Amino acid sequence: MADEPGFQLKGSAPERYEEYVAPLMAPFTTALLDAVDLCPGDVVLDLACGTGFAARAAAAQVGPAGRVRGVDVNADMLKVAVAHHPRLYPDIEFTEASADRLPYPDATFDAVVCQQGAQFFPDLTAALTETARVMRPSGRFAATVWADMSLSPYLTAQYEAIKEYGGDEAAADFSTAFACTADRLTDALGKAGCHDVTTREIAFGIALPPLTDFAPGHLSVLPWGQRLADAHGEETLAAAGHSVAARLADRTGPDGRLTLPFTAILATAIR
Ligand SMILES: C[S@@+](CC[C@H](N)C(=O)[O-])C[C@H]1O[C@@H](n2cnc3c(N)ncnc32)[C@H](O)[C@@H]1O
Repeated sequence: MADEPGFQLKGSAPERYEEYVAPLMAPFTTALLDAVDLCPGDVVLDLACGTGFAARAAAAQVGPAGRVRGVDVNADMLKVAVAHHPRLYPDIEFTEASADRLPYPDATFDAVVCQQGAQFFPDLTAALTETARVMRPSGRFAATVWADMSLSPYLTAQYEAIKEYGGDEAAADFSTAFACTADRLTDALGKAGCHDVTTREIAFGIALPPLTDFAPGHLSVLPWGQRLADAHGEETLAAAGHSVAARLADRTGPDGRLTLPFTAILATAIR
């Protein structure tokens, strides 16, 4: 699956993904879990769990009486998820599966969360209909996807750097990360049979490490960065990373650090 379009990582990227992505995801993971209001004992699914940021946070909230499951199509991301699972609570189980064919009986979950995964589902309505099937009646759903990239200057700089070094095709590839609008989520959740659907933008100022190292490293753990390296070589990937840093130089402090706004759409619904 690693060579398919969409969000598929290969090589050592899944192992390095957390190092670069954790700072960007942390406040959004908190908001995502707040939106489903977990209780001790709840049974929770982290849909498109990747390396398991949301699953681990959910496990801490539902406690030893709860159960957390994570599914993702990428087996290498799941291996990292298993390795990072702290085993404070024994019951997080990660399974390789696609969002539109979930390996769970009907009405299994009290809550489902999906962090930055919905934009990569080939058929969003089919995936959310399948998700609704595995939710209990009155179960809570929450998902985040990036909002328009103009609201996240770091992501805009990444887009421009990828376009500069990879051309229109690479830029279009990157744009898939922003393809899921609030309207598309609302429509698909309605068709999936959910009710009380809400969407809103959530924004956080995120402190980034010095971009000279961070920006090339972060690009190397993203599929469009990997595809840029495959097509044009590692030097081009590094140059694109340095271009991200240069584009944000006027926002960067003397120590190389900077804090930038990132904006996501948070969608919630009830089964
Ligand atoms: C940007 S990553 C987000 C991962 C994780 N939720 C996080 O917070 O870091 C997108 C994830 O969606 C997964 N994915 C893409 N299409 C999928 C599908 N149809 N079903 C399940 N997972 C999918 C990818 O393998 C990848 O791990």
